[in-house]
Amino acid sequence: MKMKIPSAKPFFKEEEMEGILGDVKSVLMSGRLILGPKAQEFEELFARYIGVRHAISVNSCTTALEITLKYLEVKGKEVIVPTNTFVATLNSVIYAGGHPVLADINPESLCIDPQDLLKRITKKTKGIIVVHIAGLVCPQIEELKEICKEYNLFLIEDAAHAHGATLDEKKAGSFGDFGCFSFYPTKIMTTTIGGMITTNDDKLPSVAKSMRHHGQGEDLNQIVRLGNDWVMSEINAVLGLYQLKNLDSNIRRRNEIAKRYREGLKEVDSIKPFPVPKNIRHGYYKYPVLLKGDIDRADLIRVLKERYDIEVGGVYYPPCHLQPVFKRLFGYKEEMFPVAEEVLSKHICLPIYSQMKDIEVDYVLRCLKEEVKS
Ligand SMILES: Cc1ncc(COP(=O)(O)O)c(C=O)c1O
Repeated sequence: MKMKIPSAKPFFKEEEMEGILGDVKSVLMSGRLILGPKAQEFEELFARYIGVRHAISVNSCTTALEITLKYLEVKGKEVIVPTNTFVATLNSVIYAGGHPVLADINPESLCIDPQDLLKRITKKTKGIIVVHIAGLVCPQIEELKEICKEYNLFLIEDAAHAHGATLDEKKAGSFGDFGCFSFYPTKIMTTTIGGMITTNDDKLPSVAKSMRHHGQGEDLNQIVRLGNDWVMSEINAVLGLYQLKNLDSNIRRRNEIAKRYREGLKEVDSIKPFPVPKNIRHGYYKYPVLLKGDIDRADLIRVLKERYDIEVGGVYYPPCHLQPVFKRLFGYKEEMFPVAEEVLSKHICLPIYSQMKDIEVDYVLRCLKEEVKS
């Protein structure tokens, strides 16, 4: 039997619908649509969950990154970013007036490679953005912290994929100087769109809160810096509160699905999951696998969709240095980041979402087996 399987799917519990709609109604009736108690509660609970002193809500992760980078005064400076990330990571550096410098990746974690990164440090380097790809906290995060300490660089975690993911029981978003999260619809938790900055830096919150609302000062009639209209609405915050409550059970289910995939793939020589170190709780925003032998990535993606109605994704192909915009802007070319090109051109991400049923996982496995042997 054919099943329609999306690559990702947001999830709001049926039994919570009444509560969600009631809370949205209360917001609408209150007349306070932004900068109100719901966003404040979401910020407080998110900070507590991540294990940091502050969380500042904004309208997207791109904004979270841009505000943080502006606060860090990257204008005219270099920021090292993995070539394997969503374009928003680079874009935010550019929007903040900085220059993104790409680095290659570790072929097992798909995250930035500390050794390659070392080669990219110059006098103009101000900091590093690590991206916890697919929900795996970068296993070399401590090495990155050491490098930052030695060279006096900031460390931002782009944790857009990694809500609730841990390494040694410490949460993504609490390792670096700043963490930036996304609540875009495909993410592990969503507020439709939205973002959050997490930090123990006591000076960032007042600057970020000013920047997210047109540069207002303590006296709201005084505009003290350039800002924008970047707040999270109270309605989005209501959704965030419900999603946060369910985050751990969501991740537990994603780990069960991942286990089922891993078991099933033992019978498939040509498709291999990526390793996960024992001290890591993966968030499984995505479930990446490596295609071995002569499987053609594009063909497999097309056939899974056309023949079986299964959508698969990627994190990411092409990587940023092969995106036309960055080739044009910065002169990046093929073969500049060989590890990323090699491994990413042979990976796909299998569908995963918290309400995915075991029979759907088995269907994906069955179709994959059918295709890679034919
Ligand atoms: C790694 C990464 N960084 C940043 C972003 C940007 O997030 P947002 O859409 O919330 O701005 C995304 C979104 O897909 C992402 O995957």
